[in-house]
Amino acid sequence: MYRTVNNGELRKEHIGKNVLMCGWVQKSRDLGGMTFVDIRDRYGITQLVFNMDNNASLCESARQLGREDVIQIYGKVIARASVNKQILTGDIEVEVEKLTILNKSKTPPFTIEDSTDGGDELRMEYRYLDIRRNPIKNNILLRAKISSETRKYLDGAGFCEVETPYLIKSTPEGARDFIVPSRMNKNQFYALPQSPQTFKQLLMVGGIDKYYQIVKCFRDEDLRADRQPEFTQIDCEMAFVEQEDILNMFEGLIVHLLKTIKGIKLSKFPRITYEEAIKRYGTDKPDIRFDMEFVELTDLCKKNNFIVFDNAELVVGFNIKDGASFSRKEIDKLIDFSKTPQVGAKGLVYCKYNYDETIKSSVDKFFSKNDLTKWVTKCNSSPGDLILIMAGETKDVRKSLSMLRLHIAEKIGLRDPKVFAPLWVLDFPLLEWDEESQRYHAMHHPFTAPKPDDVKKLHSDPGLVKANAYDLVINGNEIGGGSIRIHNKNLQSQMFKHLGFTDKEAKEQFGFLMNAFEYGAPPHGGVAFGFDRLCAIMGGSESIRDFIAFPKNNSGRDIMLDAPSKINNEQLDELGLKKIDQNDSSRNTN
Ligand code: AMO
Repeated sequence: MYRTVNNGELRKEHIGKNVLMCGWVQKSRDLGGMTFVDIRDRYGITQLVFNMDNNASLCESARQLGREDVIQIYGKVIARASVNKQILTGDIEVEVEKLTILNKSKTPPFTIEDSTDGGDELRMEYRYLDIRRNPIKNNILLRAKISSETRKYLDGAGFCEVETPYLIKSTPEGARDFIVPSRMNKNQFYALPQSPQTFKQLLMVGGIDKYYQIVKCFRDEDLRADRQPEFTQIDCEMAFVEQEDILNMFEGLIVHLLKTIKGIKLSKFPRITYEEAIKRYGTDKPDIRFDMEFVELTDLCKKNNFIVFDNAELVVGFNIKDGASFSRKEIDKLIDFSKTPQVGAKGLVYCKYNYDETIKSSVDKFFSKNDLTKWVTKCNSSPGDLILIMAGETKDVRKSLSMLRLHIAEKIGLRDPKVFAPLWVLDFPLLEWDEESQRYHAMHHPFTAPKPDDVKKLHSDPGLVKANAYDLVINGNEIGGGSIRIHNKNLQSQMFKHLGFTDKEAKEQFGFLMNAFEYGAPPHGGVAFGFDRLCAIMGGSESIRDFIAFPKNNSGRDIMLDAPSKINNEQLDELGLKKIDQNDSSRNTN
């Protein structure tokens, strides 16, 4: 037997007990007559004490221990002379009678402490060491808990977990596919699924009317803090449902997770249409933990010879409570931020409604006190508030102002990660015009059903057709998305036509689905949650990397494995792929 207790469980009541323990050496302190060693495992830290008077050679062995050595000890639980309130085992220590070194460790390349000196890349190269640190370990444990509670909820609601294949034919979800060559079918390729979308729809045709899967998805797209090339979805589908049934079922899932895991009770989630979200927050994933809603000022701002406003399609601003206390320097910094390429605004106008009720703006030259009072009234400002305004093309201005809104909220502490503000965004447009390809793309995916009343507009005004599609947004992050699907073959082929597929292409790519629709496809719909994003948000972060045990870096590389990597010419030959010059180092780009 290796151990009778773990390193996190001993308390006062265990004093006098003999224990066998294993773990990694966190640190040791040699005080001459006594040597203290902290031993760590997944469950916590326990202080070991080696007493020179009791056993000098044992104490000598303890002095030789290095950080991260794996040890086993036998000893007696005793009361600590100086209690450590910081840790749960702080009332006791274990007086060691026997020490076995199970494995020596090299000195780790970074400190295994809550806050470490290791940079991102180094930590990823030695991910197994990073996982020993509390922040990463706790994220992994949180993820396991969320996964287990998700299964509990969905199993309890009668969902059936089904695995769908990873070696498939490409599904268009907007990103590029990862491609896998087939040895047995030369010059032919599988694609890894961007999501199990078509399979879950086929399961509905197959009569598995409530499906779920916690499943890996693969997308070859540019990476960001909330995107990984392989990520996990809680993927769900139901038959014989309307949008309302789906929203209620999966709102229930999120309520369950927040209650069981965070102890937070939430009632009905607010709902907002896509159009409203864009108008009020400039984005389809608004953070509603705070106000600062957009107020359109176009009508109040025109015809005052201020050319920026006069030429603008939209003049829009928001009010910051108590923002009048921002210094000139702080406002200048906000102007600089607005003009950064990532935000892309041409400028920023401010209007301070001072505590003494005077109004001061950066455009006083063009606007009278009377004009500014109208702005203040429209923005519902109180003395002490600040209004920030941008002007230009509607789409661009909304996007820039939305980024400024988040930036300021972050700066003044309104984005508290312990507060959870979910909302449903509904009624997305079905199609979105793509300037580059000069054609419509499916905003969600090509299987999404148009709202029944809008079907007739598909020919006359495709851009105005709304979809039965919805997103779940939490704290400004798109956590999930789904839709009611098309289950009628004719409507599905019409949809493919609008998306620019010829009949032949549609048949080649989606013939299997269209065929299935001819054998009694039930009305159905579903949703998929980004599991990594959900874990990150519940763990108080917007970056998913540290909620994934073995993530990729920003260039999509696994630094620890050094993947992707070259394969040898024999393998290439077997796969029917062109041989490469194995000495050409330019191919292995980091
Ligand atoms: P969608 O493409 O919106 O829908 O994806 C669902 C959710 O998955 C998460 N997500 C990602 N997370 C991490 N890294 C990525 N690269 C990444 N891409 C997406 C997001 C997103 O909301 N089949 C449909 C769902 C459906 O219609 O039922 C789908 O995949 O949180």
